[in-house]
Amino acid sequence: MSTTPTVQQAWIAVARGHPKDALKLKKDWPVSSKLNKGEVLVKIEAAALNPAGYKLLKLVPNFLAHRPTMVEADFAGVIEDPGDSSFAKGEAVFGGTNFSTSNPTKQGALGQYVRLPADQIASRPSNVSAIEAAGINIVAQTAWEALLVHGKLEEGQTVFINGGGSEVGRLAVQIAKAKGAKVVVSASGAKESSLRELGVDGFFDYTKEPLHQQILKNLPEPKYHLIFDAAGLGTPDLYNHSPKYLAPGGSYISVGPNIASFGGFLRFLPVFTQPTWLGGVRRPFKIFMVQPNQKEAP
Ligand SMILES: NC(=O)c1ccc[n+]([C@@H]2O[C@H](COP(=O)([O-])OP(=O)(O)OC[C@H]3O[C@@H](n4cnc5c(N)ncnc54)[C@H](OP(=O)(O)O)[C@@H]3O)[C@@H](O)[C@H]2O)c1
Repeated sequence: MSTTPTVQQAWIAVARGHPKDALKLKKDWPVSSKLNKGEVLVKIEAAALNPAGYKLLKLVPNFLAHRPTMVEADFAGVIEDPGDSSFAKGEAVFGGTNFSTSNPTKQGALGQYVRLPADQIASRPSNVSAIEAAGINIVAQTAWEALLVHGKLEEGQTVFINGGGSEVGRLAVQIAKAKGAKVVVSASGAKESSLRELGVDGFFDYTKEPLHQQILKNLPEPKYHLIFDAAGLGTPDLYNHSPKYLAPGGSYISVGPNIASFGGFLRFLPVFTQPTWLGGVRRPFKIFMVQPNQKEAP
C-alpha cells in the first residue's frame, strides 16, 4: 500500500499580484501522485526562488497561469515514485518544473511533493546538499546553455558577460573559467572583489558611465569572441556598437527581456526588426529561454 500522503503543505498562487497578497500557504493541497507515462513524483527537501517567480505573479493573468497553482520551479529532493523511469525510489535528485508542462498540471517547487517529467530531473551527487542543488538548476542551466550551447565558447577565447553580478552571471563566470576562457564582466563596483575572486580577468562598473563607451575607450585586443547579456534587455547600445569589440563570427546572446521592464524590450524592437542590409548590426543576436532538462544538467 502506498505511504504517500494524499495532501501536502504548499504555497499556492491564488491571484495575480504582490506575493504577500497573492500567495497562500495551504495545508490540504492535493499530492498529484497519479503519474502519466515518463513522469516521476519527487519528495521535496529544498526549493529555490527565482526573480521570474514574483515578476510573473504580478504580470500573468489568472486564466493563463491556471491559478490556483503551486509556485516556483527549482528544487532538490528524493524520488517518491519513479514511475516507469530509470530512477530508484529514494534516489537523491534535483531539477525544475518548466512552464509548459507544469502550468497545466499546477505543479511547482514550493510544496512537499512535485510531479513532473523524469527528463527534467537529474541525480544529485552525494557531496552536494539539497539546498545547494536546489539553488543551482535554472541559473546554471541558463549560463551553461548561453555559453556552451548557443555561444559555443571555446578554451582560450574571451567572453564579455554583461551582468556578471547576477546569479546567472556568476555561474557563467565560473563555467567560462572552467572552460579555460578569459572573462570580462560588467557589474556594480561593490561586486568587483567577489567577481575577481571567481577569476574574472577584466571588470567594468556599469554604474559609472554607459558600458559601450567604457569598452570603446578600452578596446579589447583581440575582440571578444562572445557577449553574454545576463542582466536582461536594458539599453541596446552595447549590442548596437558591438562590431567594434565583438569579433566577426561572434554572437550576442541574451537572457531576454527583463520581465519587470517592458521598456527594455521596446527599445530593442529595431534590433529584432532591422535586417543588416537596412543598416542592422552585423553580429548575430539571440535570445533564448531555458527549459530544465536532464541533458543539459550542469
Ligand atoms: N532566458 C532565460 O531562460 C532566463 C533564465 C533565468 C534568468 N533569466 C533572466 O536573467 C536575468 C538574471 O537573472 P538572475 O536570477 O541571475 O537575477 P539576479 O541574481 O536577481 O540579478 C540581478 C542583478 O543583475 C545586475 N544588473 C541589473 N542590471 C544590470 C545592468 N544594466 N548591467 C549589469 N548588471 C546589472 C544587478 O547586479 P549589480 O549589483 O551588479 O548591479 C542585480 O543585482 C533576469 O533578467 C532573469 O529574468 C532568464
